[in-house]
Amino acid sequence: MTAFTTETPARAASVGTAHTRVEGRDKVTGAARYAGEVPFADLAHGWLVLSTVARGRIRALDSEPVLAMPGVLAVLDHRNAPRLETDYAGLMGSRPDPTCAVFQHDRVPHLGWPVALVVAETSEQAREAAEALVVHYEQADHDVDFTGEHPDAYPLDGHAPAVTEKGDLDAALAASAVVVDAEYTTPEEHHNPMEPHAATARWDGGRLEVVDSNQGATWVVGELASLFSLDPASVRVRSEHVGGGFGSKGVRAHQVAAVMAATLLQRPVRVVLTRRQMFSLAGYRSPTTQRVRLGADSDGRLRALEHRSVSLTSTVHEFVEPSAGVARVMYDADAHHTANRVVRRDVPTPTWMRAPGEAPGSFALEAALDELAEGCGVDPIELRLRNEPAKGPVSGLPFAGRHLAACFREGARRFGWADRDPRPGLRRDGRLLLGTGTAAASFPAGAAPSTATATAYPDGTFTVRISAADIGTGARTALTLVAADALQVSPERVRVRIGDSDFGPAMIAGGSMGTRSWSWAITVAAGELRERLALGAEIPAEGITVRSDTAAAIGALAPAERHSFGAQFAEVSVDVTTGEVRVRRMLGIFAAGRIVNPLTARNQFLGGMIWGISMALHEEAVRDRASGGHVGADLAGYHVATHADVPRIEADWIDDTDPDDPVGIKGIGEIGIVGAAAAIANAVWHATGVRHRSLPIRPDRVIAAGASGV
Ligand code: MOS
Repeated sequence: MTAFTTETPARAASVGTAHTRVEGRDKVTGAARYAGEVPFADLAHGWLVLSTVARGRIRALDSEPVLAMPGVLAVLDHRNAPRLETDYAGLMGSRPDPTCAVFQHDRVPHLGWPVALVVAETSEQAREAAEALVVHYEQADHDVDFTGEHPDAYPLDGHAPAVTEKGDLDAALAASAVVVDAEYTTPEEHHNPMEPHAATARWDGGRLEVVDSNQGATWVVGELASLFSLDPASVRVRSEHVGGGFGSKGVRAHQVAAVMAATLLQRPVRVVLTRRQMFSLAGYRSPTTQRVRLGADSDGRLRALEHRSVSLTSTVHEFVEPSAGVARVMYDADAHHTANRVVRRDVPTPTWMRAPGEAPGSFALEAALDELAEGCGVDPIELRLRNEPAKGPVSGLPFAGRHLAACFREGARRFGWADRDPRPGLRRDGRLLLGTGTAAASFPAGAAPSTATATAYPDGTFTVRISAADIGTGARTALTLVAADALQVSPERVRVRIGDSDFGPAMIAGGSMGTRSWSWAITVAAGELRERLALGAEIPAEGITVRSDTAAAIGALAPAERHSFGAQFAEVSVDVTTGEVRVRRMLGIFAAGRIVNPLTARNQFLGGMIWGISMALHEEAVRDRASGGHVGADLAGYHVATHADVPRIEADWIDDTDPDDPVGIKGIGEIGIVGAAAAIANAVWHATGVRHRSLPIRPDRVIAAGASGV
C-alpha cells in the first residue's frame, strides 16, 4: 500500500476556507484542560500573599503561626527563597519585570507586590493560611498620581526610538490655515483574560516541567532558565490550552513562585492567580495623556504634525506605551514630531496589552484628524485620502502594501457614508441624538524566526509540531489549514500539536506575529517533507520527520514599512439627559494579509472592535490615591462591554495577500481594536457637537458636556 498520496491541487486549498476550531469539541465537552486543571499526583498548592501598603519595607512576617495551620507545608519569602539571576536579556532584549523575580528583597514598590507564598496540601488551606499571614511593614509615602502636569516625564525608547523629529514645527503650524491643538487622555485598562494565570511546576528526572498558561512556551523557558540559572534544555514548559492572554501572559510571579516551592518541597506545586491578584500582577495598559497638534492648509493637507504621549511606569521597571508611534506610520507632514515619555510612580509595571501604543495612540490621532476635518470643512475620509503618504513618514521606507484607501472606499460603500451630513447635532430619534464616525487603523505586520517539525506516518496521516500558543485566536486551526495546504492533503489528515517547548523554539503569540511566524516554519517543514515523500521514500513506523528553521529566510526580508490597515465605522445614539452612549452599528474593513480561516479571523477582528467599544465607553481602572490600590479590582468594579453593549457589528476584509510571506499572511490579532474608540468618539461628536477627548465617554461626562448645536 502506498502510504502517501497527494490529493488533487483543487483539494489542497484549505487556507481561506471557514473551519471550526479543531479543539472545539474538546473545549465544549471539558476534555480540554487548562493549566490550573491538569492533574498531578502529590500536588501541593501555593497562594501568593500581596502587600497591603503601596511603598515601604517588610519589617517582619509572622510565619510561625501560619506554619502551624492545617495542611501548611511552607512559607516562602525574601528570607528563605532561592536567589534569582535578574541581569539578563530576555525576550527581544528586554529585562524581566522584577515583579516576577519574587522574594529577593524586603522592599515594597507598590500595593499588591508579592511578599510571600504559602504552600499547603489544598488550595483552600493555602488560601486560608495566606490570608492569616500577618506582615508588618515600615510604610513610606507613596505617589500613584497620573493626572495633570508631568514635569518628571522623560523620553523612553521602546522597540522604537522615543523621539522622532523632522522639520520646524512652530513655523509649519504658524503657516497653517487650520490648526488643531488638543489633549486626549486614556485611563488605566486591564486585560483580564477569562482564564486566570496559572502554573504548576515540578521536577521530573532532573528536568523542570512547568504546565502553564502563557503566550509562548519558548519565552517562558528562556526566562525561567535565566532566572534560576538552569540550562534551557533542562526546562520544559507546556501550555496546551490558553484562555486568553492579550499581552499579559509572559513570565509572572506565579510561575517563579511555583518553581521555587517545587524546588524546596520536591513535589509538584500549583499557583493560580485570583481575579483580584491579576490587577496588580498581570500587567495592564498604562493610562496616557497625549497632545496632538495638527496644522493644515485649508484643503486639509498637513503641514505640521506633532504627537506627544506620556504614559506611566513603575519604580522597578521601565515600560513605555508607545502611543505616538502610530503617527510615524499614518500621516506625513513637512514638520513631523513624535515623542513617547514616561513618568515613574509607585504602581505595578504596565505591559503589552492588545495593540500596545496603537490602541490609545489611534484614539488621540484619529480623533484629532476628525477635528481637523471639521476645521477644514473636508469629509473625514477625504481628509485622510489627501494625506496618504507615499513612503514611511519617518523611516522613508516604501510601504509593503498599504491599502488604507481601499478599506475606506469599501467601508464607506457598505456603511452608507456617502449621504452623511457632516454637521453635528442634527439627527434625532426621539430624545436620542444620532451620529456616525470613522477612523483609520494600522498595526505592524511582522514575522519572527521559528522552528517546526512535520512528520509523515505510514497510515497517511501527518503530525506537525510547533511550540505555538493558541490563546483563543484559533491559531491551532489556522495552522492545521496551512499545514494541509503545504502537504497538499485535506486537514483531516493533519494533527497540529502546539504548546510544548520541547517542540523547539518558536515565536510567541504576540505582536500579531504568531500565526504568520508559525505558518512560515510549518510551510517550510511540510514542503520539504512533501518533496521527500514525492521521491518515493519508504515511511517507517516512527514516521519521517523534517525540521525547519526560518531564521535565515526572515532575516533576509528587505526593509520596508510592513503593516496591516483598516477603516472603522460606528453609529451611536446619545441620550444627553442620562448620558448614555450606545453603539448602534459598527463596521470594520481590514487589509491584513491573506485570511487563513475566515471564521476565526472574523472572530479576531470583532473581538478587537468590541474591545474598542469597551475602551470608548466602559473601561477604566480607578486608582485610590490614599491606598495606592484600585477601587473595585474585579469584574464587577471594572466595567467591560457585554453582550447588551454590542450592536450590529461586522468585520470584513479586502484582498491583501502579502507577497513576502509564503502563505501571504500579515497578522490580524491586534488591528481590530485600533481606531475603534476614535470612530465611536467621532460619532459622539457628530451626534452631539461636543468633543469627548477623555476615555471612557462615561454618562457623567456626557451629561456634564451636554450637547451643542441642537
Ligand atoms: Mo499582544 S499585546 O502582542 O499579546
